[in-house]
Formats: sequence, structure tokens, C-alpha cells
Amino acid sequence: GDQAEFDLKRHIREVPDFPKPGILFYDISTLLRNADAWQVATGRIARVVAGWQPDLLAGIESRGFLTAAPLAQRLGLGFVMLRKPGKLPGETISLSYGLEYGQDTLHIQADAIRPGQRVVVLDDLLATGGTLAASVALLRKAGAEVVGCSVMIELEGLGGRDRLDVPLHTLMHYPA
Ligand code: PRP
Ligand code: MG
Repeated sequence: GDQAEFDLKRHIREVPDFPKPGILFYDISTLLRNADAWQVATGRIARVVAGWQPDLLAGIESRGFLTAAPLAQRLGLGFVMLRKPGKLPGETISLSYGLEYGQDTLHIQADAIRPGQRVVVLDDLLATGGTLAASVALLRKAGAEVVGCSVMIELEGLGGRDRLDVPLHTLMHYPA
């Protein structure tokens, strides 16, 4: 069948007190290492992402690479990396954004996007939305038309979704 009944959440391991006491960590490692679950997950993401008719997929370092690269390959599209500082050679465009404590910065190669290219951005997880919102802004700065975002896990109740002004697709929802 189309595996519509396949329960992906069964393959997410919940790890209490990681990386800090009081934090419940949703571990995707157990999903990735299961061939059937990984196939179903990427298939579902591919269907939605293809519907947005992107020219290019962008993945956010590091866990966003896990879905963006194989999906791009599967859909016959190119793949672009949004990386942490000091990793990309040549001229880059960057954007800094606030975290709970401190700041983080993402870079993209300045020539990565042709003006107006339709880009979908992928990550593993949406929490506060700071990372994804910054990625959308960075891609626009680089000339992209961002047509959607997709994450495997959305933590609800942190307002992450509200920080995005593009369609967001989520495979699994959890309370924050
Ligand atoms: C995690 C996760 C998302 C981001 C979500 O990445 O993979 O990218 O945090 O949080 P937010 O919605 O509150 O911004 P992390 O910085 O831990 O790095 P990693 O992907 O390299 O492990
Ligand atoms: Mg990340």
C-alpha cells in the first residue's frame, strides 16, 4: 500500500535529560537507521516538497543536511548548504540571529542562488524557529524566493511556526 498508516513516531527515541537536565530529546537516529522508516519519511517529505515546485533545496547544518541532500537527489534538484561560520570557501553572505543564550550565524556562498530561484529549506527540528526564520531571511538576502520549509519534528508551544512567513510542513508534532 502507500504506507499511509506507517507510524513514524514509533521510530523516534525519547531521551530524558539530554543535552541538559529537564530537556526531553527527540532522537531521530533511530528513525534514520531503520530502512523502512527512513524510506517512508523521505517519501512523505518528497511529496510535499515537490508540490512547491522548487528549483533548489537548502539544508541547515548539520542535521538539515540529512534530509535535504537525499531529497534533492530524489527530486532531481540541486542542493545548497547553509553553514556555520568558517566552513564555506569563497565569498559568503551571512546572517546572525539570537539564541536563548548568545548568538549564532549562518552563511551561504554568495553565488549559490540565481536571482528568483525557488528554494525550499529543510531542517530536522523546529523549536523556537530562530534557526529556520534566519535561514529564510538569509536565502532571501542571497536572492532566493523561499517557497516553503520542511522539518521532521515540530515542537509545539514555542511559537516557532509563527515566526515563519512561508508554508511549513511537519512530519511529526510533539509538545514542547
Ligand atoms: C537544532 C536543530 C535545529 C535547531 C532548532 O540544531 O537541529 O537546527 O536546533 O532550534 P530553534 O528552532 O530553536 O532555532 P543545533 O543548533 O543543535 O545543531 P545541529 O543541527 O548541528 O545538531
Ligand atoms: Mg540543527
